[in-house]
Formats: sequence, C-alpha cells, structure tokens
Amino acid sequence: MDMTKQQRNKTVVLPFLIVILFVALGSCSSDNEEDLFGDICDTTDVSYAGFIAPTLQTFCNSCHSAEAPSAGIITETYEGLKVVALDGRLVGAINHESGYSPMPQGQSQLQECTRLKIQAWVEDGALNN
Ligand code: HEC
Repeated sequence: MDMTKQQRNKTVVLPFLIVILFVALGSCSSDNEEDLFGDICDTTDVSYAGFIAPTLQTFCNSCHSAEAPSAGIITETYEGLKVVALDGRLVGAINHESGYSPMPQGQSQLQECTRLKIQAWVEDGALNN
C-alpha cells in the first residue's frame, strides 16, 4: 500500500516537530530550576558586613538613615536594623507580606535572591558577622 505524498510528509514532519518541542520545553524548565532552586542563589553564611549592609545602603538608607529615620526605623546601623530584623518587620516588609508596609517604598520589590539572603541572615540570628 503506497502512501500519498501528503501522508509521507506528515509521518516525517510530525515527529520532527515533537522533538523540537521537547528540546524547547526542556531548556526552558532547566532555566527556571536554576532560578528557583538556587544554583545561583547561595544563602549560606550571609554576612552582615559583606552583603546586608551594602544592600541596605543601596535600597533603604536614603529613608532610614540614623539622622532622619522614616517611621523611626534605622537600617543604616547594625543596632537599628537588628530591631526590625528580630521583630519580623524587616522580612515582612521586603517580602510584601500582608500587615506590613511594602519596602523599599516607591520602588520595585528586591530580587528574590536578595530577599532570600536577607531572610536567611535573619533566621541565622541577624548576627553582626
Ligand atoms: C522612599 C523612602 C523609603 C525607602 C527607600 C525605604 N523605606 Fe522603609 N519605610 C518608609 C516609610 C515612610 C515607612 C513608614 C510608613 C509606612 O509604614 O508605610 C517605612 C517603614 C518601614 C518598615 C516598617 C514596616 C511595617 O510594616 O511596620 C520597615 C521594616 C522598613 N521600612 C524597612 C525598609 C527596608 C528594609 C528598606 C529597603 C529595602 C526600606 N524600608 C526602604 C520609607 C522608605
């Protein structure tokens, strides 16, 4: 039984498209895995001096300086930051949790990896490390 030209085309083209589709989906999901599961985001041993302080300098201290702190909250010094780190407001605010004012105010939310690192530092006791 001879296949028509049209049938032959289908039997060749369809598997080819399916292979392309899986290759495309495969590369897509592995990209997401990298983002989600931390190949890039290392949350171990986050240092106050090395990561937390410079990050807050960039995103927070303009409003939460020691001299003129918005809402009385100081992110510029370790002692000031420790207060909101330990009472939960730091993590609540940066993660935009309900019941907290979303921070940084008037700017887009911090990158997920940055938030995960801050959260890990708080969970490790908000040390002056
Ligand atoms: C443009 C100014 C501005 C910036 C930038 C800013 N804040 Fe705020 N922040 C405020 C003001 C004003 C308040 C008090 C009013 C309010 O709660 O909305 C506040 C409140 C807070 C609170 C208390 C939240 C609550 O629900 O009790 C925390 C914690 C905080 N900020 C941390 C941060 C952190 C951390 C950053 C940087 C990631 C940041 N802020 C950046 C102005 C700012």
